Amino acid sequence: MKSDIEHILFTAEQIKARNLEIAEEIDAFYTHRKKEILLITLLDGAIVFTADLIRSLSVPLRLDCLRVSSYGDSTNPETAPRILGTLKSEVKNKHVLLVDDILDTGNTMSRVYEEVVSKEPSSIKTCVFLDKPDRRQVDFHADWFGFSIPDEFVVGYGLDYAGRYRQLPYLATLKPAVYSQNLS
Ligand code: IMP
Ligand code: MG
Repeated sequence: MKSDIEHILFTAEQIKARNLEIAEEIDAFYTHRKKEILLITLLDGAIVFTADLIRSLSVPLRLDCLRVSSYGDSTNPETAPRILGTLKSEVKNKHVLLVDDILDTGNTMSRVYEEVVSKEPSSIKTCVFLDKPDRRQVDFHADWFGFSIPDEFVVGYGLDYAGRYRQLPYLATLKPAVYSQNLS
């Protein structure tokens, strides 16, 4: 797997340090308001980021997950995001924090945002590990983000290519040859 890596954008240490900063900001925002969060994380990509982030948060929270699908095996979204499955929690009157791995075109977050808003939460905020502003198709900004990156396809720290590389502890780009291989 290591031989497939072209370039490391952020090391595990850099990611850890940045996550602590975001967690402090989120804590400050909610603790100040004496609020408990319903943290809704988007599977599968945000699983690693969320696992690290929640362990750095002091504000009381409950966790729920939504699976959203838009990517096939390519590096471009093939279909409009589909919400697969339902939340187990009541959203009405809760302070929702939506967490995803990356804000790319923005279609996923805006779709989920709409869905959550329709359930009448008291408030809704968003946090993403990565922001790729150059690819945005809808006007959507995250309230908190870890790193802003250029228009490059990245893997690791939860993000995949064709289902693989999620386990890498760092964020990296892949060698062009990986994309031309048959990954079945
Ligand atoms: P959006 O709907 O275009 O904003 O895309 C959001 C989803 O696309 C994310 O949750 C990721 O699963 C996936 N995605 C976007 N860019 C990348 C990338 O560079 N690497 C891996 N997955 C990505
Ligand atoms: Mg995803």
